[in-house]
Amino acid sequence: MILLPREFILFSRLGRTDAAFSSLHDAGRLDIVHECIVASLFLSHGIRRNVTFHAILNGPPAPPLHIEIDGARLYDVRTDVDTWQRILKKVLSGKAHPGISTSKTSFEALLKAKAETAHVYVLEEGGRDIAETELLENAVFVLGDHVGLPKKAEAYALRYGEKISLGKQPYLAASCITILNYILDKAGSRH
Ligand SMILES: C[S@@+](CC[C@H](N)C(=O)[O-])C[C@H]1O[C@@H](n2cnc3c(N)ncnc32)[C@H](O)[C@@H]1O
Repeated sequence: MILLPREFILFSRLGRTDAAFSSLHDAGRLDIVHECIVASLFLSHGIRRNVTFHAILNGPPAPPLHIEIDGARLYDVRTDVDTWQRILKKVLSGKAHPGISTSKTSFEALLKAKAETAHVYVLEEGGRDIAETELLENAVFVLGDHVGLPKKAEAYALRYGEKISLGKQPYLAASCITILNYILDKAGSRH
């Protein structure tokens, strides 16, 4: 089965942009970033090599910061909090980890670049029911954090894509990613 590229973009309103923290939760909810990384990229005993995860961190001291994790090149990882606290601190200190890069790319610039080659879907409870939506190849899914996507960011993303819904229940961002991966896995080689 050929798996097509699949990408997730998490907009983190407050995620810290340096390594000055002792807990992911207290670092502007980087624990949500960790949960979304695990949901995006990990299978039981394996990494989803066709998935790329992006987080745009908009917290202090130097927003925005784009973290990109490429499943095809990610090594030396486990799923637990301690591992990811260590890795996130490392990359936020400017050090390297296989498959992970950082840049000063903004949410808007990332969206614009992605929209040139991919189909953008903005996850929101009030969007079009995913069951009635034919997901196109090379999908990029945009999600908000615990507060949700800021209206301005949502409006910008909708220039390039459409709003889709997983139903009326407000799910955790990481749960949304798990549901999307499940749906796309079931759809098979088309995604
Ligand atoms: C924990 S939710 C945020 C909930 C927040 N109260 C709000 O109004 O957006 C985090 C993100 O998950 C996504 N999400 C949660 N439930 C969803 C659903 N039923 N359908 C589509 N996306 C959903 C949205 O992208 C949301 O910004």
